[in-house]
Amino acid sequence: MSAHNPQLQWWKTGVVYQIYPRSFQDTTGNGVGDLNGITERLGYVADTLGVDAIWISPFYPSPMADFGYDVSDYTDVNPMFGTLEDFDRLLAAAHHRGLKVIVDWVPNHSSDQHPWFVESRSSRTSPKRDWYVWRDSKPDGSLPNNWQSEFGGPAWTYDEGTGQWYLHSFLAEQPDLNWRNPEVVAAMFDTVRFWLDRGVDGFRIDVAHYVMKDPALTDNPASQDPAGMAHFKPMGPFNAWEHVNDRGHPDVHGVYRDLRSILDGYEGDRFSVGEIHIFDWDEWAAYYGDGDELHMPYNFSLVWAGWNPTAIRARIEAVEAAVPSHGWPNYVLGNHDEQRLATRYGPENARAAAVLLLTLRGQPTLYYGDELALREASVPPGRQQDPWGIRVPGMSRDGSRTPMPWTPDPGHGFTDPTVAPWLPFGQDAATRNVRVHLADAGSILNFVRHLLRLRRNRPSLQRGTIAILDDVPEDVLGYVRRFDGEQTIVLINFADSTQMVPAAPTATLLAATHDGGSLLGDGMAHLAPHSAMVIDPGPAA
Ligand code: NOJ
Repeated sequence: MSAHNPQLQWWKTGVVYQIYPRSFQDTTGNGVGDLNGITERLGYVADTLGVDAIWISPFYPSPMADFGYDVSDYTDVNPMFGTLEDFDRLLAAAHHRGLKVIVDWVPNHSSDQHPWFVESRSSRTSPKRDWYVWRDSKPDGSLPNNWQSEFGGPAWTYDEGTGQWYLHSFLAEQPDLNWRNPEVVAAMFDTVRFWLDRGVDGFRIDVAHYVMKDPALTDNPASQDPAGMAHFKPMGPFNAWEHVNDRGHPDVHGVYRDLRSILDGYEGDRFSVGEIHIFDWDEWAAYYGDGDELHMPYNFSLVWAGWNPTAIRARIEAVEAAVPSHGWPNYVLGNHDEQRLATRYGPENARAAAVLLLTLRGQPTLYYGDELALREASVPPGRQQDPWGIRVPGMSRDGSRTPMPWTPDPGHGFTDPTVAPWLPFGQDAATRNVRVHLADAGSILNFVRHLLRLRRNRPSLQRGTIAILDDVPEDVLGYVRRFDGEQTIVLINFADSTQMVPAAPTATLLAATHDGGSLLGDGMAHLAPHSAMVIDPGPAA
């Protein structure tokens, strides 16, 4: 049906659930999650929770310098996670349940252990030398330019064996591929076809804007505003520079036009979403192309907006204005790179944040564990894993990557109780876990399940227009979604005090973060502190 009605394409109507495979379910008893674990938990994902698609972070062979974002073989499964057959079973089981499957694609860099790089660094005359970005020192012996690695330090590492520097926008173990070499393009597009042929429904593209840089490798200018929002979030010395030359060169659009034509050549609605940290919204929206590039660039505008109605409204409006009419918006509030949402926005706002994520216009991505409002876990120094956190104080991502707590028991249903999981569980896993939450009608998990069902059953939430309401108190964000005569009103109170918003006498409550039959009455919505409600105002006038 969706093929004939673009409005109903799954990636427009559906909710995507991000699974970090190391932390979802361990079936081998080694303290690390695996693909068979994901397959075991598909009933939870598809039916108990009720999302429409999963995105699985990398599970490819990798030395794990950056936990899988350093790929040493793009077309296989790391034995730690299982086998290709396990992946095929996962995919078939997911499809059987009506779930779509998105896999990660990491085009900007491979592992330094990838045979391509091993060959490339073997000599200056290697046939694969130009598959990566190699440069001589400057005449004074200094680095080729001033580009910095996101993870701290210069983006260049000197190779003693061949006397040149290679570029790595991330770790030295993650050398950047040279996308200006047609052989690289062909080889990388073959990896895309490999997974499409196996039946995957789409790709999440790692740092998609990085693949094309200034071909002259010009220095980046110093930043005029090192702490500003153009930098998304504080990232230490990396933010001292305007990253205008080391990523996002206009030639990048040709890459995604070519990728799109590959996707469009396959049956079904194959999907692409790019991880793109750009906050100039016009430049960001350019990745939609004329409907011939990415299906969407990720919208991270709200991740570090703060829990503030003015900032959130401004960013919703900016993004809505930038998304082209042929494009489809999306929202992310949390992922494996960011502090847990419940900690970032405040635990008292976790339910309201779920309302925001699941009622805005566009595709929501829900990060595993946010349905339990998992807090950022504190990981003791001896157990830290994230290379970024180890290199740059304050940047650790470990706290949002801890294992999913399924039960209150030792091992929390994630792993063998006698085994230490790769990262420790969150401190409150004995009470904040799936089993306990399912048994508690008032839990956030049951609330999120309710929201997901509501969204599925209300076309206005899935695909309606959005209009922000002006006639609400300043501490409230309100918007109305409309589709074909159906209206849904969303009200979110950001204040510590109760807020009142006029509501039609005919209005009925569809969802509320806080219990209470009297939330709607006397022609008013009574919004408790930090609460949100979803209202059906009755038939459109
Ligand atoms: C973005 C990924 O989300 C992150 O986890 C990774 O470390 C970098 N890209 C480098 O691949």
